[in-house]
Amino acid sequence: MTAQLLDGKAAAAAILAEVAAGVAALLAAGGRRPHLAAVLVGDDPASQTYVRMKRRNAEEVGIESSDHRLPASATTDEVKELVRGLNAESRVSAILVQMPLPPQVDAGAVIECVDPPKDVDGFHPYNAGRLALGDPAVLPCTPAGILELLDRNQIPVDGRRAVVVGRSNIVGKPLALLLLNRHATVTVCHSHTRDLPALCREAEILVAAVGKTFYIGPDWVRPGATVIDVGVNRLDGRLVGDVDPAVAQVAGWLTPNPGGVGPMTRAMLVRNTLLAAERRS
Ligand code: GUN
Repeated sequence: MTAQLLDGKAAAAAILAEVAAGVAALLAAGGRRPHLAAVLVGDDPASQTYVRMKRRNAEEVGIESSDHRLPASATTDEVKELVRGLNAESRVSAILVQMPLPPQVDAGAVIECVDPPKDVDGFHPYNAGRLALGDPAVLPCTPAGILELLDRNQIPVDGRRAVVVGRSNIVGKPLALLLLNRHATVTVCHSHTRDLPALCREAEILVAAVGKTFYIGPDWVRPGATVIDVGVNRLDGRLVGDVDPAVAQVAGWLTPNPGGVGPMTRAMLVRNTLLAAERRS
């Protein structure tokens, strides 16, 4: 068997077209043009690339964007002051603080500083709490993009056995909650999990979000399973995922990587920006 590909590029292009139409409709109704403010602290090349791609996607669909940079030596108070200024700016509908922040910056304190309606990543405790209660306000972009990719390919979630490998606040935890809210039976695995391969083999939907090159091998995958590869790892100068390419011989559906989850994350970011602007209008 060779897995069918869950084409994130194609789905993201469709979402970007929908958002472009939404922006045009908002403007035609007298609303303000959505504006995404991106905060980048330090000079990590990968983060710079991500922010550039996010801003490019925003501008492609008629969303204004602005860049707000601080040096790698910035303090927590300096980052919070920048965020507070963006909270107060009425033209800014959405704020993105690119993670990770430098180690001396208290990321939790910065996230709590973002005005929850402008928290386009859904990271603020208010938005994370709403998600945990099953009444989400802003959905985190990567988990939302994964659900969207499943839905657009008519892959059912309700009642299915889902295993999420990784428990980060950005992907693993919110994704587990989203799947649970959609009535999957969810197991979250992490570095202390015993007999991880056996648990993975139970999954009808298996999500790898651990950041380890080709960690999930074909013998960890139930034949016909849907496998989502969130990993972004460097190998010999190219980007690769957490899933061994040989998994394609076992899985029923598989995200290409690159070209799977990444474009969906950016598409959901611009969609969240439009939704934030619509709520303000
Ligand atoms: N770093 C890695 N993924 C993300 C994301 O989805 N949002 C932000 N702000 N930073 C990230």
